[in-house]
Order: sequence, then C-alpha cells, then structure tokens
Amino acid sequence: MNRSTTEIQKIISTFRPPARADYPELDDYSRDEIYHDFFGGGGMYLMVQMLRSLNLQPGQKILELGCGKGETSVYLAQHSGVQVKALDLWTSTEFLTHKFSARGVNSQISAIQVDVTRQLPFLENEFDAIFCMNSFNFYGDTPGFLPQLLTRLKPGGKLCIGSEVLSAEFTPEQLDNPPYVFSFSLPAPNDDVNVFTGDFIKQHTPGWWRNFFQASGLLEVETCFELKDAEAIYQELVRYEYENNIDAFDVQICLDQIEWGQSHQPRKTLFVLTARKI
Ligand SMILES: C[S@@+](CC[C@H](N)C(=O)[O-])C[C@H]1O[C@@H](n2cnc3c(N)ncnc32)[C@H](O)[C@@H]1O
Repeated sequence: MNRSTTEIQKIISTFRPPARADYPELDDYSRDEIYHDFFGGGGMYLMVQMLRSLNLQPGQKILELGCGKGETSVYLAQHSGVQVKALDLWTSTEFLTHKFSARGVNSQISAIQVDVTRQLPFLENEFDAIFCMNSFNFYGDTPGFLPQLLTRLKPGGKLCIGSEVLSAEFTPEQLDNPPYVFSFSLPAPNDDVNVFTGDFIKQHTPGWWRNFFQASGLLEVETCFELKDAEAIYQELVRYEYENNIDAFDVQICLDQIEWGQSHQPRKTLFVLTARKI
C-alpha cells in the first residue's frame, strides 16, 4: 500500500495487456467500453469467454443473475439475439430500464431488482440458460438456493458462471490469520466492510466450484477452466484504473495482491464454468 507515483508507474510499465487478437468479438469495442460499468474483474474479456462456452441461440430466454449495471445484458441482447431477464440486488430497476431503453434493447430485456435467494418471480422451466458473472459467490452457497434456482431452468439448460476465483483454497492457518492482501477495510464511507469476511472467504478454486456443482446431483459440469490470460487481464485492469484515475485505493491493493501472488498462494485468477441441468 501507499506506493509512490514513480513506483506505481515503474511496476505498471512491466504489465502486458491481453492480446486483442484473441478477442475478435470485441473488435468494435474501445478500451473504455471493455470496462465501463463493470464491477468485478475481467470486464468484457471474461464475458466473451463465458459466451463462447455457452453458445446461445437467437430467441432463447436467458436469466442473468447479479447483472450489476447491465452491460452484459445489453451485449447478450445485441450479439446473441436472446431475451434476457436482468436481475440484480444493488442496481435499481429504474437505472437498468433507462439504460436498456437508451441502448435500444428494451424489447429484449426486462430488469428486476430482487434478492435472488428469495422466492423467484419466474416460471418453472422458463429459461434456456442462466448467466452469472462475478456474483455467484455472494449468494450461491445459501442453503437450498441452487435446487430452487434450477427449477427455473429447462432440463438440458445451461448454467454459466464466470468469476474471480483463487488459485488455491485458503489454508486453515490463513483462515485464522488471513494474508493482509485479502483482509483489509475499504476506505470511508465503506470502512466498516472487511473484504475478507464479506468477499474473499467466499471465494474458491475452479476445482472447488466444479465439485460444488457436480455434488448437487442436479448438474453435469461440461467445462471448467481458468483463463489462460487471467494475469494479463488483471494487470490491464489495474493499468486502466491507474491511467484513468478511477480508484486509487483499488490500484494500490491490486498491486499488493499481484506482487504477493508472485511468491505466495492463493493468487487471484479468473475462471469459467458451464454445467447442464440433468
Ligand atoms: C461484483 S458485482 C458484479 C456485477 C456484474 N455482473 C459485473 O460483472 O459487473 C456483484 C453483483 O451481485 C449482485 N448480488 C449480490 N447479492 C445478490 C443477491 N442476493 N441477489 C441478487 N443479486 C445479488 C449485486 O447486486 C452486484 O451487482
């Protein structure tokens, strides 16, 4: 923490961005658009890798869980030609509805602000797929949640999770005494939030998630992989935040996490999992 500007610039100058040629789906998107209104790591790079593994067809009905500010819903409607129910807890229906109208996709997307662990206002077998980016770890292990959610997915339908994950599970010692790069308070006015208990303790490895879904007996995991360019995607996000004065605190802590992760486990990475409802 509290690295000088010179030190930050020196570290960032060693970072390599993800290869844009690996993401032809984003040819029409600027660097700003790749990160605009995304909350978690990965931005549109992660979204693209999720969509490749999901292989949606025009006209299908998609439930997006934890859609945040709705950028992924817009992309799904525009590029996959699907109908989307965009659900989120923190973002208001008004904000999302206004965005979807402004982007010309309001006939394809409807927004709803609800806690997904409560009674879901959808029909049984309503959806062909459930898309969930950087949010499942917030609520996915709530008892009874997964069986209840899956009643809304058609038999044979797909669940796709893409998210920040860890390269190793925390050891018992780390759970007792968390590494400082994962255990800190946010700046005011959110200084009552400890990100370890609120976030990192709920994060796992790709293998843990594979077992979690497979053990439910309700899903067959089809793909589960760590993004090969996750490190470059993280580094590019830090560089973007720094160059655009977006979140000085996040830049500092991310640099600490990247440095710490070069010689310790776990480090932050990104993964995609797709499972088929049995
Ligand atoms: C890190 S943000 C990711 C948002 C978006 N998917 C993205 O990638 O930018 C996590 C999202 O999960 C949503 N969320 C957390 N708990 C939830 C719950 N119980 N029900 C519905 N959404 C929830 C929050 O509202 C938030 O928008």
